[in-house]
Amino acid sequence: MTADALDGLLTRIAQARILVIGDLMLDEFIWGKVSRISPEAPVPIVWVERESVMPGGAANVANNIRALRGQVRVAGIVGNDRWGRLLLQELAGRQIDPSGVIAIERPTTVKTRVIAHHQQVVRVDREEHMPLPQRLIQQLCKVVEEQLDDIDAVVIEDYGKGVVTRQLLETLVPAARKRRKVITVDPKEEHFDLYRGVTALTPNRAEAGGAVGRELETDSDVERAGKELLKRLACEAILITLGEGGMQLFERDGGHTRIPTVAQEVFDVAGAGDTVIAVFTLALASGASVAEAARIANHAAGIVVGKVGVATVTPEELRTALAVSFRPSSRRPNRRARPKVSARINPRT
Ligand SMILES: Nc1ncnc2c1ncn2[C@@H]1O[C@H](COP(=O)(O)OP(=O)(O)OP(=O)(O)O)[C@@H](O)[C@H]1O
Ligand SMILES: [Mg+2]
Repeated sequence: MTADALDGLLTRIAQARILVIGDLMLDEFIWGKVSRISPEAPVPIVWVERESVMPGGAANVANNIRALRGQVRVAGIVGNDRWGRLLLQELAGRQIDPSGVIAIERPTTVKTRVIAHHQQVVRVDREEHMPLPQRLIQQLCKVVEEQLDDIDAVVIEDYGKGVVTRQLLETLVPAARKRRKVITVDPKEEHFDLYRGVTALTPNRAEAGGAVGRELETDSDVERAGKELLKRLACEAILITLGEGGMQLFERDGGHTRIPTVAQEVFDVAGAGDTVIAVFTLALASGASVAEAARIANHAAGIVVGKVGVATVTPEELRTALAVSFRPSSRRPNRRARPKVSARINPRT
């Protein structure tokens, strides 16, 4: 890709219009200090210094798209509670259109991490994943159908919390395909067979392994799984993310590309998968080829793992990283080197 083509692509990314549908969450952080053990039980007492919230799950994918200046709207559900209202506020404050979000009588999915001295002390999850009532699924299908004409791509972010159902996909996939929209999926292991006919999936190693029913230990295990999934799901591409191993891309035309990580230093891998699907979809919606989109997404992931916390990438950071890599004459980082692993908070695990 030439420098001009790359500049053009990054400019078009800011005009891409993406709908993210899936399991919305709120990430809550409680930061503090520990100086003693509780007299009540053998647990540390955290003295709270600061609290913060961030969009999580599908909302974090939307946040990643917005950080690159893409136009993004979200569809999904939140609870009719204080957390749901906080999440809607966070979205609106980041210019993420929440008009497809339905508030219902069920708790908002919230993951609270208590962090002291850069270490996660405990994570507290609030969530319910009962199947949604029929009426709500229909309401979500309607939201999606109404928005399809005004977007370039749909991201389906499936954490298995109830939003992504067979009925939703049976409505969404044919309607989006008819309008030639890109559809990408960050999949949930048990749901693979619902995704037939989408443009591309971005499973991680465990999810791809779960889908084919075996562990993927070696590169050739990954290769077999990628090819098998490509055929089974009749999609354009399968992009398997492999943590420190980078990614492997499988394309319908038989193309198979190994993409090593470009991360120089690793602080926190949480949310890297969300960054991958966000950037991959933005690039596809802006006219990049599948292989270019994967490489760009891999660069973005290489940047976020070098930041502390669930992070996003700015256009300037991505432009700088890509300029080094896509211009053959420039100095490239040593891609073979294993990234240096620094202290990790890894609040996601
Ligand atoms: N330890 C690491 N070292 C270098 N690069 C990494 C590391 N972890 C992740 N990456 C980069 O991030 C990309 C996505 O990571 P990964 O495969 O862990 O996704 P994931 O499991 O879906 O993550 P999550 O669900 O936590 O967001 C990788 O393809 C790679 O480019
Ligand atoms: Mg993931």
